Amino acid sequence: MTNRQQILAHRPVGMPTKDTWTLTETEVPELKDGEVLIRNQYVSLDPAMRGWMNDARSYIPPVQLGEVMRAGTVGEVIKANNHPTFKVGDVLSGWGGVQEYSITDGTNYYQVDTRLAPMPTYIGTLGMPGMTAYFGILEVGKIKEGDVVVVSGAAGAVGSIVGQIAKIKGCHVVGIAGGPDKCKYVVEELGFDACIDYKNESVAAGLKTHCPKGMDVYFDNVGGEILDHCLARLKMNARIVICGAISQYNNRENVQGPKNYLSLLVNRATMQGMVVFDYAPKYGEAALQMGQWMAAGKLKSREDIYEGIENFYETFTRLFTGEKKGKLVLKLV
Ligand SMILES: NC(=O)c1ccc[n+]([C@@H]2O[C@H](COP(=O)([O-])OP(=O)(O)OC[C@H]3O[C@@H](n4cnc5c(N)ncnc54)[C@H](OP(=O)(O)O)[C@@H]3O)[C@@H](O)[C@H]2O)c1
Repeated sequence: MTNRQQILAHRPVGMPTKDTWTLTETEVPELKDGEVLIRNQYVSLDPAMRGWMNDARSYIPPVQLGEVMRAGTVGEVIKANNHPTFKVGDVLSGWGGVQEYSITDGTNYYQVDTRLAPMPTYIGTLGMPGMTAYFGILEVGKIKEGDVVVVSGAAGAVGSIVGQIAKIKGCHVVGIAGGPDKCKYVVEELGFDACIDYKNESVAAGLKTHCPKGMDVYFDNVGGEILDHCLARLKMNARIVICGAISQYNNRENVQGPKNYLSLLVNRATMQGMVVFDYAPKYGEAALQMGQWMAAGKLKSREDIYEGIENFYETFTRLFTGEKKGKLVLKLV
């Protein structure tokens, strides 16, 4: 049996290029005692993958050159060799990587129920991005009814869920996204109160219009200039959730830091970073709640699915060009 894998070939400087990865073929080895073989059906494409390619200290070690590109996956067990928990036919989510098959002893994999939600949802709203949104906005953002909440990357995997949770909790929600089509989607389909098209409008003017008295919470997915505009419009005791800074991930120079940070002082505000993995013991609780919201029609989950391991590079770049809505997924079979 042949396994096609995307291998990290070069560490990118700036935006990754096609030769950053090599598509290789290897034989799938025999299973050892206690292992399972998974056919990966969907691969999660996440902005964090860009950071994992840098040879730098971070919250997890970098992917090494010559290794399979790290990625979240969901797929079906097609062979099991005395595994204590998993059997053939089980659908598992875990860190399978950008490859067609993976072998594991089950560490960091968990079983998902495809009768409750389709497979891709388990790497989206009911997976890592959904967990990030849930704990980020509730535990770090500490939203309460009536808060004015601003979220960037509003049409994306994390941002779309952040805004919808904030609406469920009775907040006034303003999104920031690229392009009129995404802004229309955010307001008309996801139910945000307003959306600022940062590619065609002034963010500063949009914030003034939609948050005339300032904001209580800014959920930051993008960093850079948008973070500075939001810093300038904080209310007293505001909270900024530093979730990500996608505008900076492909910088060839240093990351652009916030210029308006003294607004934190003036407004007795906080700016706190978060890493979703810290909330792993509580993922079950969050998935249950979000599943209930989805079943009740209060939370919409959208996956944008592209096909073929050979199209990994072209699909991955959509994270940075913005040519996608909701959670970006690569379908393998
Ligand atoms: N801290 C954590 O534990 C954690 C976990 C998961 C994700 N994250 C972070 O959360 C953020 C969102 O992740 P996601 O998975 O939900 O990705 P996503 O929003 O689904 O996809 C990325 C989006 O970023 C926007 N974007 C790209 N370049 C941009 C730029 N220069 N300026 C402004 N926006 C830009 C694009 O939307 P537009 O078309 O609107 O520009 C694109 O669709 C990322 O920063 C990611 O690293 C953090």
